[in-house]
Amino acid sequence: MTLDLTIGIIGGGQLARMMYEAATPLGLGVKLLAEAPGVSAALVVPDAVVADYTDADAVVAFGRGLAAVTFDHEHVPAVVLRALEASGVPVRPGPDALMHAADKAVMLARMTALGVPCPRWRVTADAAELVAFGDKIGWPVIAKTSRGGYDGKGVFKIDGAGDAGVPFEALDRALGPTERRPGADAAGATPAAGQADDARAAGVVIIAEEYVPFVRELSALVVRRPGGEAVAYPVSETVQRDGICHETTTPAPGLDAARAGAIQAMALRIADELGVVGVLAVELMERPDGEVVVNELAMRPHNTGHWTIEGALTSQFENHLRAVADLPLGSTAPRAPVVVMSNVLGGANPDLVGSLGVVLADPRVRVHLYGKSVKPGRKVGHVTVCGDDPAATADAARAASDYLEGRAHA
Ligand SMILES: Nc1ncnc2c1ncn2[C@@H]1O[C@H](COP(=O)(O)OP(=O)(O)OP(=O)(O)O)[C@@H](O)[C@H]1O
Ligand SMILES: [Mg+2]
Repeated sequence: MTLDLTIGIIGGGQLARMMYEAATPLGLGVKLLAEAPGVSAALVVPDAVVADYTDADAVVAFGRGLAAVTFDHEHVPAVVLRALEASGVPVRPGPDALMHAADKAVMLARMTALGVPCPRWRVTADAAELVAFGDKIGWPVIAKTSRGGYDGKGVFKIDGAGDAGVPFEALDRALGPTERRPGADAAGATPAAGQADDARAAGVVIIAEEYVPFVRELSALVVRRPGGEAVAYPVSETVQRDGICHETTTPAPGLDAARAGAIQAMALRIADELGVVGVLAVELMERPDGEVVVNELAMRPHNTGHWTIEGALTSQFENHLRAVADLPLGSTAPRAPVVVMSNVLGGANPDLVGSLGVVLADPRVRVHLYGKSVKPGRKVGHVTVCGDDPAATADAARAASDYLEGRAHA
């Protein structure tokens, strides 16, 4: 039987898996395009289509008859998105919005044009230009690839002229067949290893950014419907280690209502200006003086919004689907004074499910395991604790994620 409202999700990671969980009570159908059999969402969504998301024909065939198509990552090439749109299926968010999440240079240029604060930046063609930038604004600087980065891959702290070649060499190495997916964008096909220059021509560049000596990182999540209706979640504080999100606390401690409101308004404005449909996550860095600058945009449910499953009246996954299906958005109000989410990364413990007997002994702990095999540093799950006391809530969440990771709780 075909459901009236079936949403296509491209990408089979944990975000798609959690979107599927949110679709079920709404009675929405989900069709999944997975990059490989056995990936996180393909373990739960029936009849997943296994296909290459850079193959326009395969993606268009996947989209046929769907109410809308959305994503669990931003790596679908623009030419494929355009082909999908041309086939008559609503693509949400659409390619004009999504390019700002897929390409950090495009994002920085647009934020600058909109007057949204971001680190000082420039696109650099080679190590000499990176050195010139560092000499001008001061060392260290951050260098990052414009596309294809995730979990801190493609982000480099450059201390001085001696390291300036590092990001360019890494880009050359990354242009192998697996990591080079996003560079397929303009070319329409994944370049083979050794086609570094072609891929650069296709738009992957090294961006130099001012090193922001942030006191903490924040995340502002908003959700927008096609007609412009939008909602904002409370702002979260996020802790990243080695470029990977480890923990979030919501609401961000010590952020007064006026500043939180200003940050939410900025995120809503960005969503509106860019015509985002679905979740927009605005990753922010807070400077010592309290000013915030935009680090990155994501247009899909985001790791920093996982707390909303138990911690908000409507989860980010449900609100994303509601937006994609053009349904009224749900309340973003928190369910508890403080909500802490702690990621579970692959560690010494290979048997996550076998650890549930211990971690669930604390009735406050809510566990989400993604069905992924444990590999070092890989995101394999998260835990959430809602509470009243920030320290006790964080401690309960950390105790559970430490145990799942096979580490002694500090
Ligand atoms: N200009 C900067 N100054 C200081 N630190 C930075 C800067 N840019 C990035 N970082 C640090 O590096 C982390 C990763 O950067 P960024 O978000 O751009 O990369 P990413 O690989 O796309 O990450 P992810 O996908 O995990 O969000 C940031 O969360 C921040 O901790
Ligand atoms: Mg980031």
